Amino acid sequence: MAEKPAKLRSRDWFDNLERMDMTALYLERFMNYGITPEELRSGKPIIGIAQSGSDLSPCNRIHLELAKRTRDGIRDAGGIPIEFPVHPIFENCRRPTAALDRNLLYLGLVELLNGYPIDGVVLTTGCDKTTPSQIMAASTVDIPAIVLSGGPMLDGWHEGELVGSGTVIWRSRRLLAAGEINEDEFLARACDSAPSAGHCNSMGTASTMNAVAEALGLSLTGCAAIPAPYRERGQYAYRTGRRIVEMVHEDLRPSRILDREAFLNAIATVSVIGGSSNAQPHIMAMARHAGVDLELDVWQHHGYDLPLLVNMQPAGKYLGERFHRAGGVPAAMWELLQAGKLHGDCLTCTGKSLAENLAGHESTDREMILRFDEPLQESAGFMTLRGNLFDFGILKTSVISEEFRQRYLNRPGQENVFESRAIVFDGSDDYHHRINDPSLAIDENCILVIRGSGVIGWPGSAEVVNMQPPDALIRRGIEWLPTLGDGRQSGTSDSPSILNVSPESAVGGGLSWLRTGDTIRVDLNARTCDALVDEAEIARRRAEDPIPPVPDSQTPWEELYREKTGQLGEGGVMNFALKYRGTSRKLPR
Ligand code: FES
Ligand code: MG
Repeated sequence: MAEKPAKLRSRDWFDNLERMDMTALYLERFMNYGITPEELRSGKPIIGIAQSGSDLSPCNRIHLELAKRTRDGIRDAGGIPIEFPVHPIFENCRRPTAALDRNLLYLGLVELLNGYPIDGVVLTTGCDKTTPSQIMAASTVDIPAIVLSGGPMLDGWHEGELVGSGTVIWRSRRLLAAGEINEDEFLARACDSAPSAGHCNSMGTASTMNAVAEALGLSLTGCAAIPAPYRERGQYAYRTGRRIVEMVHEDLRPSRILDREAFLNAIATVSVIGGSSNAQPHIMAMARHAGVDLELDVWQHHGYDLPLLVNMQPAGKYLGERFHRAGGVPAAMWELLQAGKLHGDCLTCTGKSLAENLAGHESTDREMILRFDEPLQESAGFMTLRGNLFDFGILKTSVISEEFRQRYLNRPGQENVFESRAIVFDGSDDYHHRINDPSLAIDENCILVIRGSGVIGWPGSAEVVNMQPPDALIRRGIEWLPTLGDGRQSGTSDSPSILNVSPESAVGGGLSWLRTGDTIRVDLNARTCDALVDEAEIARRRAEDPIPPVPDSQTPWEELYREKTGQLGEGGVMNFALKYRGTSRKLPR
């Protein structure tokens, strides 16, 4: 075990002989629930448990239970647990979008970790943004921090078929539009997809971001994918509690773990697991808060050419239970490591290197986690694009169906190029009102475009780019049209979309001058996406047409968020916050 740090920061509160009056004041109220002054003044590390579970955060609610085992681990290793709530985030239910809450939880947790006598912290994660927000805060404060995932729900089954979180919604929506199921059946399928405590059981943003935490080296090996109700969950809660106490003694802070290579490992991992496109802004945000510069094309350079290895919805067939039984994240990363696609020497929260952690984690279920050289798909990562409509957009290629590839990507003489007529919607209400309007004459040669759905426009950026074609087209068997937008899409979506487009329409990005009827040319070899509108016409439209209006802010935070938050390509972070990295190096007044 490494040297103890000279002095734990909590000593400044609880053991400050120069300010005995303040020490008395700090101590007395903690004692009113039975904790003793001897404990608080014993020199043991005070370990925060950042509690993200609540009735309003059902995906993370398992942590209310798990925290008991985490406390046991902290106590057994000689620490003192102090549990406190963080701002709840519930992806599915929060209007206008849970994306607003990532930066809000971040701000709140920075204040808690910085302003209270906490020496190390267990970050309890689950639902999509509960992972990146807490990691961002841990980097800003830079005290020892470890991630405890809550784990996915058990697999959902409906009439003998696997139904995965979110994915079942998008698939049922198409069946409903085609007239193949009714509303009752839709609801039954959705409810059956959520059979237990836990977060989304598909490879949506929650499973992706917990895998990212593990790939970054911030959680114990094998932590991310254990289903919430499994016994290993409680056991990992205990071990995580034990380990954070040691990390405090080793002074193992996020700044020693989160370097560029750690983030490249995370990007490679997201690519082979068929992870969510939301990982793009979240990884960028975590990296920037950790002081790591990632270029906009990092996904193209370090993720695109990797194969799809994990056979999990939405890119594949199965769900979280089988993924865990097949070896989970370490088994997927083991494949990358053998193929020379990981930086194995990265230091992790275990105190060991990533390669040491992964030793012996080869999968034995080759239908679930495939070999690197016998994958589900080759080059199945994320493609980044640019053109006269935007400087940055991203396309998750692992979910593009074979039929879609045939139709759009391999037309004779125009390999990997398609030109489509743009149908432009101003936000999702406009889309829902007009998508079935026959006067738009939407056919298979169209691309559906949504604007006003970015960070500033929505505000927060909405998961709306996975627009489905008009009902009439679906009834004809056309389940997909290409889509493009300045919002995001759910990680559980199987839609071929160019999304997270930056700069967004609301700040004058190219989508602001685009008009229905314009031709959009996408060249996937050159990685470009352009409207075939000449410079003079663009200038004329820019001069004559106002930027399409967006709704007013409805709360004080929305207004402040809009004022402070940057574009999705750069992680949607509050840029002013970046300069505060490492606040724990100086004690608060
Ligand atoms: Fe919370 Fe998917 S809605 S994890
Ligand atoms: Mg989501």
